[in-house]
Parts: sequence; structure tokens; C-alpha cells
Amino acid sequence: MSDFVIEGGTKLCGEIDIQGAKNSCLPILAATLIDKNVSVIHNCPDLTDVNTAVKILEYLGCEVIRENHTVIVDATCVTACDIPEHLMCEMRCSVVFLGAIIARCHKARISMPGGCELGPRPIDLHLDGLKKLGVTIKDEHGYLDCRVDKGLKGNKISLAFPSVGATENIMIASTLAKGTTTIYNAAQEPEIVDLANFLNKKGAKIYGAGENIIVIEGTNTLSDSIHSIIPDRIVTATYLSSAAITGGEVLLKKVCPDDLSSVIPILEEAGCFVKGYDSSIYLKAPDILKPVSLIRTMPYPGFPTDAQAPIMALLCVANGTSIFVENIFENRYKHVCELNKMGADIKLEGKVAVVKGVSELYGTSVAAKDLRGGASLIVAALKAKGITRLKDIYHIDRGYDNIEIYLSQLNAKIIRTK
Ligand code: EPZ
Repeated sequence: MSDFVIEGGTKLCGEIDIQGAKNSCLPILAATLIDKNVSVIHNCPDLTDVNTAVKILEYLGCEVIRENHTVIVDATCVTACDIPEHLMCEMRCSVVFLGAIIARCHKARISMPGGCELGPRPIDLHLDGLKKLGVTIKDEHGYLDCRVDKGLKGNKISLAFPSVGATENIMIASTLAKGTTTIYNAAQEPEIVDLANFLNKKGAKIYGAGENIIVIEGTNTLSDSIHSIIPDRIVTATYLSSAAITGGEVLLKKVCPDDLSSVIPILEEAGCFVKGYDSSIYLKAPDILKPVSLIRTMPYPGFPTDAQAPIMALLCVANGTSIFVENIFENRYKHVCELNKMGADIKLEGKVAVVKGVSELYGTSVAAKDLRGGASLIVAALKAKGITRLKDIYHIDRGYDNIEIYLSQLNAKIIRTK
């Protein structure tokens, strides 16, 4: 098992390109299998979650070719309609394959997605939506047996919560349904828009993605297509936090500044100078970071829950107290005890985290507990006095493409042990 060893104290400076978005790439890879055609997808990040998604596609019978950051999926021949348990457990969001498999095979069998480090992670909104499209679902001792005998039929579906995954599953499943599907209270994340753009390039008729009402007019068949994944806004926020905490100055390229419209004001309130250009973001950090009075995580376009941990690490060394309210996931504060081991002063009360800024963090041995929490420990270690050894970095490799290489290009002192 590799670790990261990080020596803090160096100002990050320079410029790097930002990877493609994990949370766009995964649903788009799932959507490639809904019809018999070829999809060429550029700007796919090199992540273990992408590896798992490719393994699922190959298990289902697709032919997949990967060349650097391009993935080519030939879905002409799909021979299976289940996802083996070990692959379901490898990646919680494998559930987004459910709608795609049902759209293609009119049946599917998956195990309930593993309880994730972020709390229970139910999928009731996914299943209710699929049932509204005519799918019958039997829960057989932890396995979901789904089938749709008379074909998927469009319907009106109102989501109790703007779930990203449920919106994606319903959108994918209804693309080839008979009739029109309308999703009310749909998730509005940029990754939803990217998925809709990918499907529309193949001939789908999806309108309103990015708004809270999405209309999908079912079509009969889709065509070959070429698509490029949008930049990863959460990875961008992570590198901005890394530059900010070290007092650095960076230019991040191949990004979409508009997708960080709720993150940039927080960095500015903390004292950073941030300038967005067409496809890049410049940040210059202050000598002393200021606290941010209140950060509430919300569905897009609110502050993203995935950026909560990296921004919290940054504010651990602000000259005052910042308050976070985590409204999206239970149990998304597992990085707090590790940050406190490094000298941070964070107190938790339910959904609320009170972060009292300290003048110094100290390198020590800490462990990643989940993807974004692990990334926050890297942010803290880049500032901490001395050496930090970060264990269980497999969590981080799920969502960050060779993070140590990109950080090293920004002058960070970080290595991955063998
Ligand atoms: C997606 O997860 C992302 N993952 C998450 O990113 C992200 O944090 C989340 O959206 C919110 O933006 C991928 O896209 C692969 P949700 P998802 O369904 O779809 C509850 C990362 O770090 N809920 O919007 O699972 C759920 O429990 C990951 O990259 C139900 O109650 O998120 C949670 O409290 C972490 N029933 C809330 O909704 C359901 O059927 C948001 O979940 C579905 C969700």
C-alpha cells in the first residue's frame, strides 16, 4: 500500500492543466451502453473509479480501448445485464449503470451499492424514478432484480431531493423510452449538463439540463459520437485551496470558472485574489488568510459538498473562526479528527463544524478516510511544519489523477512511496 509523504512550507506556484471531471465521466461511460454504437470520449481522467467503470462495461460485453485520456467504447454487443458484487462494492456510484443496463437490456440485476463512507447513501429516489418509467423492482436479499416487460414509458417524475445520481439514472433510462419524461426538482450540477450534451450528440432529445426541470423526449436509436468531458470543478477547488494555504500563486488551465461560482467568493472572503478567464483561473494567496463566517453545503449552484473538506483544511489556518454546515451527507466530517491530529482546532456538533484558526499545523502520520477528506489532508500537509505521512491514499486515487505529479509541478514537496 503506498503512502504520500509531504513536506510542508513551500509556496505553490506555476501553472497546470486540470483533469476531466470524475463525476461527469462516470455517468457518461454508463450511458455509452444504452444503444449499439461507438462512443469516443476525450479528457477522461486517469482514476481508479474510471478503471472500475471500464471493468463494468467490459463485463457487460462492451469493447473498450483506452489511449491516454481517451476512452473508446464499442457497445455493439452487450451480453450481460448484471453487475457483479465485487464491482458494485468497488465503486458506490456503480448504481448509475442501473438505468443504462435497463435501457439496453430491459432488465438488470445489481447488489445494493455498498454503504459508503459518507453515510447510508440510499437509492430510493433512483428506484422510485425507474418504477415511474415502468420498471418493476424486486429486492431479493440485497440484490435488486429489475425488469420492464412492455418497454420503458416516459412519465412525469418529481424528485423529493435534487439527487445527482437519480437525475442521471432517470435521464439515461428515459432517453430511449416511449414518450416524454419530465424530471421536476432535477439536479442542476454541471455534470448533469455534460451528460445531457453527450446524449444529445448521439441523437437524444434532452432539454433543460442545468435547470430544475428537464424534459427528455424518447427517441428510437442513437448514433456514434465524440465527446470531451468537462473540467473537474472539485479538483480545481482542491488545487486552489492548496495554493491559497501555502501563500502561493497559480494559474489553473483547462478549467470552467463559471462552475466554481459558489467557491470563488469563499476564497475571496478568505483574502485570496482570484481571477477567472475563459478557460483558466488565477489565484494569488494573501500572507494571512481570513476566516469565512458561514459555509453551507447545498445542491448546485450552492456551495458543493465535495469542496467542503479541502476548503476546511484551508480555513484551519485562518486568523479567526469559520463555520461549516454540511447539509448534503451525514458523516462527511471524517477528515476532522485527522486535521485535529495535525494541530487544527475543529469542533463538531451534528451538521455543524466550528473551525477556529490556528497559527501552525504540524506534520504527523494521518490517514485518508474518504476521497475528499483525503484530499483535505494533502492541503493541510502542504502548509504543516515538517513531514506528514498520509496513509490509505487509495481513496484519493479514486478522484484525483496523479495528484502528486501535478502538485510537484506547482513546486510542492510530495512523493508517493512504493
Ligand atoms: C454525486 O453523488 C457525486 N458522485 C458526489 O461526489 C457528490 O457529493 C453528490 O453527487 C452531491 O453533489 C458522483 O457523481 C459519482 P446525491 P450522489 O444523489 O449522486 C440523498 C465525490 O466526492 N439521496 O445527489 O450519490 C443522499 O443520501 C462524490 O466525488 C437519497 O436520500 O449524490 C445524499 O444525502 C461524493 N436517496 C443526498 O441525497 C437517493 O435515492 C445527495 O445525494 C439518492 C440520494
